[in-house]
Amino acid sequence: MARYLITSALPYINGIKHLGNLAGSMLPADIHARFRRLQGHEVLYICATDEHGTPAELAAAEAGQDVRAYCDAQYEIQRDACAGFKLSFDHFGRSSNPPNHKLTQAFCEALEKNALIEERVSKQIYSIDDGRFLPDRYVEGTCPHCGFERARGDQCDNCGTLLDPIELINPRSKISGSTNVEPRDTAHLFLKQPLMQDRIRAWVDQSTEWPPLARSIAYKWLDEGLIDRSITRDLSWGIKVTQNGQPRPGFENKVFYVWFDAPIEYIGSTVEWSQAGGGDWERWWRTDRGADDVTYVQFMGKDNVAFHTVSFPVTIMGSGEPWKLVDRLKAFNWVTWYGGKFSTSEKRGIFMDQALDLLPSDYWRWYLMANAPESADAAFTLEQFQQTVNADLANVFGNFVNRITRFCASKFEGVVPEGGAPGALEQKLETDLAARLKALTEFHEQMEFRKAAAELRAMWAAGNEYLQVAAPWTAFKTDVERAAVGVRVGLNLAALFAILAQPFIPDAAKTVLDAIGVPDQHRAWPKQIAGALDALPRGLAITPPDVLFKKIEDTDVAAWAERFGGG
Ligand code: MF3
Ligand code: ZN
Repeated sequence: MARYLITSALPYINGIKHLGNLAGSMLPADIHARFRRLQGHEVLYICATDEHGTPAELAAAEAGQDVRAYCDAQYEIQRDACAGFKLSFDHFGRSSNPPNHKLTQAFCEALEKNALIEERVSKQIYSIDDGRFLPDRYVEGTCPHCGFERARGDQCDNCGTLLDPIELINPRSKISGSTNVEPRDTAHLFLKQPLMQDRIRAWVDQSTEWPPLARSIAYKWLDEGLIDRSITRDLSWGIKVTQNGQPRPGFENKVFYVWFDAPIEYIGSTVEWSQAGGGDWERWWRTDRGADDVTYVQFMGKDNVAFHTVSFPVTIMGSGEPWKLVDRLKAFNWVTWYGGKFSTSEKRGIFMDQALDLLPSDYWRWYLMANAPESADAAFTLEQFQQTVNADLANVFGNFVNRITRFCASKFEGVVPEGGAPGALEQKLETDLAARLKALTEFHEQMEFRKAAAELRAMWAAGNEYLQVAAPWTAFKTDVERAAVGVRVGLNLAALFAILAQPFIPDAAKTVLDAIGVPDQHRAWPKQIAGALDALPRGLAITPPDVLFKKIEDTDVAAWAERFGGG
């Protein structure tokens, strides 16, 4: 028994996430968490909403809502969609909850004690009509590089250049549209990351368990050289800046930058879990309280890697306190919608809530992981979705289970048959499955989701081939004993296949295991195949489940293409 702390990147609060977001962090984290639990390990899977920052403020303003009320409502929507997708969080917290406030302030104070924080005055755009400083994204103006007139304070979307708001020509406030703005001096806290550069590099050097994508991104940042990073913003929604536990003078109208507090919420959400009666959070996070035994695994999209391999570790290590650092980091490329972007406003692509209105979560879970964006971006297409679901789930797995359970019900009184001894055919099957189980287990351990799905599919296919050859329906006419072997092995295969499918398609797997009457304590991840083909007690009564997966029709694809194609 080992202990696994698993986190998936915290989804921004504004707006329900699309299938690509799901596929690049929460879903694979859930599959890994389920796999590790089935292996008998102790798992804590933590996530939360990432609620601060300008995007949340702007979205609330657009919705005409107070930002807290907006976040409350959005939190529930996201939590429900995650539940609908059967994401098995031990806790789904909120970065705006009190534990994160306390932790974030404490981290900053610890960093300051270690001389890693500097208060520095710089010029920022002040809006006279709005009576406030404007953070990056609240300023718009003309790009000094390409002349694009609607460049944002942080970046020009036309030429891609990263900008400082004071570089914009004809700056204006995004809040009021006022051009009555001017650069003024304002103080901010800077985290002196360069002082931690060597320690971070040494840590990355020894983090040999990170997959190549994560390591190369971390090195790219280290090679470019870390820079001082401003960790405060002129906003009211967020975590207040303190000094010795009191409001920090001069920072009354400022809060921490969202990317400073968000990763700290991994810890904050664990504290929330603890407060809700979950258990001792320090055991998972403090290396002086037992977290040395924990393997910490993070899941995220590739754009998040630098924050998790460099910025957050600077915060953690710079505090000088014994916090747990990430051990394994799994990063993903993008899922695109037919090669393009998902867009809420343009009604392009399928979002989590919409997906569940169309089909049960297992269909999406399977497709997204069988086509996980691991080595490159992966395009979601309805045609490929249809093809994958119909072939793998309906024709292979679903059909296998239905065929064998029905035949058992009609010819063997719905019980696992006694008779017959396994022969060469069964021996060959067992050898084949033993090799495949080993591979499947390793792919899960390595978090190679595409390969794990392919291996599972291959096992299902091997089961179908076996039934094809054993053909109990034919054998039944001449040799009932022989047919009994086929049925018994077939039923055991159905149970085995469902056990192994639990991480990917937990609902369908449960339906099958319930139908076959596999008790909970026999649903764990098998260490070997030996015995698995004769695990069900002979005479056990089974009930054929209803059709497990219905096929996706061409007419469905056409209707969905129309509805989600973005005009
Ligand atoms: N909300 C961020 C995003 O979607 C991810 C935050 S991850 C955290 O890109 F670690 F900062 F929480
Ligand atoms: Zn530009």
